[in-house]
Amino acid sequence: MISKKMSDSLNTHMNLELFSAHLYLVMSSCANEMGLKGAANWFFVQYREEMIHFMKFYTYLTDQGAVIAMPASKALPNKYKSLLDMMQKTLAHENLITACINELTEQAVQEKDHATQIFLQWFITEQIEEENNDRDLIAKLKLVGDTGHGILMIDSEMAQRVFVAPVGSPLAV
Ligand code: FEO
Repeated sequence: MISKKMSDSLNTHMNLELFSAHLYLVMSSCANEMGLKGAANWFFVQYREEMIHFMKFYTYLTDQGAVIAMPASKALPNKYKSLLDMMQKTLAHENLITACINELTEQAVQEKDHATQIFLQWFITEQIEEENNDRDLIAKLKLVGDTGHGILMIDSEMAQRVFVAPVGSPLAV
């Protein structure tokens, strides 16, 4: 049993995870349009991961007996200067997600909601990995100058990313 306040906060965040999925799906198409097929793959894998995150929140809320609410979705940006620009915006977005997960955890602690604290643990760890991956790519893109042969090398590296559904994940799309 979770409080209405906790359930509302989790619902808000669930929608932010869906927003993240759509943000990265659009980025995938932008990378594809730039001729960066590897980066397009990387963002598509990220889209699929975000759909898993969204479904984790959905499943947790419905398991707790909540009825979800979904607001109309906002238009997403679909113009980027470069792959570096996309990666910097990705990291900024993930920093926001991390802050939100931390706030949710703080709320769960204050409410002595142990189940929600346990649920959120997975996301705390996941955010460390996501931010780290983004920082690595940004550093490499800065090294090669975001143009020329170097970027093709990074694009090839990004092509290697494979989607792996987490154990017990509620959805593999
Ligand atoms: Fe679902 Fe990228 O955090």
